[in-house]
This record gives sequence, C-alpha cells and structure tokens, in this order.
Amino acid sequence: MIEIRHLKLIDAVAEVGTLKNAADRLCLTQSALSHQLKELESRLGIKVFHRVNNKLLFTPAGKELRDASKEILEQLQRVENNIQEINQEHLKNYVHGYSQDETTRLNDQANTVSELLHWDSKWQPGSLILEAGCGVGAQTRIIASKNPESTFVSVDLSPASLAKAEESVNELNIEHVMFRLADIQDLPYENDHFDHIFVCFLLEHLSHPSEALLELYRVLKPQGTITVIEGDHGSTYFHPESSAAIKAVNAQVTLQSQTGCDANIGRKLYPLLFDTGYTDIEVSPRQVYVNDSKPQLTEGFIKNTFVAMIKGISEEAIARKIISKEAMQKGIKDLLKTAERGGTFCYTFFKAIARKGDTPDV
Ligand SMILES: C[S@@+](CC[C@H](N)C(=O)[O-])C[C@H]1O[C@@H](n2cnc3c(N)ncnc32)[C@H](O)[C@@H]1O
Repeated sequence: MIEIRHLKLIDAVAEVGTLKNAADRLCLTQSALSHQLKELESRLGIKVFHRVNNKLLFTPAGKELRDASKEILEQLQRVENNIQEINQEHLKNYVHGYSQDETTRLNDQANTVSELLHWDSKWQPGSLILEAGCGVGAQTRIIASKNPESTFVSVDLSPASLAKAEESVNELNIEHVMFRLADIQDLPYENDHFDHIFVCFLLEHLSHPSEALLELYRVLKPQGTITVIEGDHGSTYFHPESSAAIKAVNAQVTLQSQTGCDANIGRKLYPLLFDTGYTDIEVSPRQVYVNDSKPQLTEGFIKNTFVAMIKGISEEAIARKIISKEAMQKGIKDLLKTAERGGTFCYTFFKAIARKGDTPDV
C-alpha cells in the first residue's frame, strides 16, 4: 500500500513544512502531490496531517510514517551508495580507462575492422537485442545501422561512456537504441527476455567471464543466440620481428592478468560458452593482416588501434614494474616499424555465435 513516492512526499513535507514547498523540492506539481497524499490516506484509512493555518502538522499516525520514511529512505540511499562503490571497483579493473584517447581508439578500432567483424552481424527484423558493455558506442553505431528494424538495449557500467555512446548514435539519427547503466553480472532484466545478445571486447576485462556468460544466458530467450567477439594478444606476430616489441605486448597481457583478467581470451571462447551451457557454438577466427598494400589498415589498425592500446596501458604497466620505461619505449618504437615500408602485422579476433537450448539447465 505504501510506495517509495509516498515516503518521499512525507519526508519532504517534514523538511519544508508545506505541500507547495515539498512539490518544489520533488520537482512535481502541487496537485500531483495532493493527489498522492489523498491516495496514501485512503489506502491506509488514516489522516497523515492536520492543517493548521497554512501549515501541515503530523497526526500520530503521520508521525509514525514520518519516522519510518526517514529511516527507509536513508537505508535506500546507503544501498545506492554501496552499489555505486561496487561499480567503481569494477571500473578500476578496466585497464584501458575512459580517456578521450581511449574513446578515439575504440572508434578507430571498430571502424577499421568493421567489415571483418560485422559482415554477418545481422539479426531477424523485430528482434530485441542486448548489447553488453557497449562502451562509447563504437560497435553500437555499426550493428544498429545494420539492423534498422530491431531494437537494441545497450548497457555499460560507465555513465560517462554511455553519455558518449548516446551522443554518437544521435549524430547518426539512430533511434532504435536505448542506453542503460547496468552491470552485466547482475542485469535488471527478467529471465528469457532478449532475442539476441551481443558482446564485444568485454569478457577479456572481467575476472569471472563465466559468471557473466551465465547471467547473459539467464536473460536470453530459449533458441536465442549470443554473439561474442574478443581479441587474443597471443595471436600477434609481425615483421620486422623484435623481442622489445613482444615484451611490450606481453606487458599488457601481464597487466590484465594481474587484475584477474585475460587478454588471450579469444582462443577460449568455445570452452567458455560450452561450459556455460550454450549449444550450436561456432567460432570463427578473423585475422587482420596488414602489409604495404593496405595503407588504411596500417594507419587504422597498427597505429591507431594496436599501438595506441599499448601506449594507453604503458604508464600503468611501468608503475607496476611489469616493464621498464626504456623497454616500453623501445617496444613501441619497434611496433611502429611494422607500419613502415616492408612491415607486416597479423592479429586474430575470435567471433563466436552460440544458442540457448530449449530446456535451459541453469
Ligand atoms: C573495451 S570496452 C569495449 C566497448 C565496446 N564493446 C567496443 O567494442 O567498443 C569494454 C567496456 O566494458 C565495460 N564494462 C566492464 N565491465 C562491465 C560490467 N561488469 N558490466 C557492464 N559493462 C562493463 C567498460 O565500462 C567498457 O566500456
């Protein structure tokens, strides 16, 4: 019978004394608030206030409600703060951070390998699709444009990234994407809710990817599919070869493993999905191969995606003494040589598509 909005009303009147001031505080009209008050009084069969002149004084039953409101709202605030702190903890594990450089890198990465990764990212028209860990919307722009007749719910833990993602799809006049703040390990959706799920470059940043896959399984409809795209830094090889460059790449792998995450997760997608209960799993390795004949990939992939990523983590890797500053600088310099005349560069992404069976066993 009593709802949170009623508690907020009572708490506001206790603070500011009149319904008008309470309405201002709650950004509601006075008539909406009077309506809520009448509703509460009729549900409980009591009067909450006596009116004396223009002031509202609490009745004995009203006083009981006032004290309870204060306590419950404070408790709720504590819960919200705790949740924010948990989110901040997750965000700390995210090695790439949320700088403008990282936004540019994610967009460059998505655009450069768009055809390689997304030529088949098409779902049945009318589908409801969850995009888990959408970041700044770099993939959202691509998959939403390819699926104009589906609806996307794109979630992330970072409010700042979500704001950028929203701005980015608005620029393209895309209207079939809803952005939500949510932790993919504890989604605010009922079981069997989405027709499809899309995950890109996210599992590598989680210390418990299987738990996330289980939670995604829960919200996926039976017969629905999940698409997961991840990189695998162990798949990196190049010419000219250089032990300094390999050390710089390994510094990122070590850094991620120190935060409980896995930069080489691409090769593990099949067993991860299988162990979580998904069926009909198909994994396709998608290799980026760059040489002199592909100047766009030299810029977009070697320099703006891969080397930019290593540069982005270098400060933290040095601070954690995973690699020395000199070794990192030499590694980056050597990696850039692969983008010069005669250089070549290979990297493999893994794209997995799997299904939730009819009789879920989780
Ligand atoms: C490397 S970015 C990838 C973003 C996007 N999928 C892309 O490919 O451009 C990883 C994103 O996952 C988000 N993330 C990490 N842990 C998360 C969690 N538990 N729930 C939701 N989002 C999470 C981060 O905030 C970040 O925006």
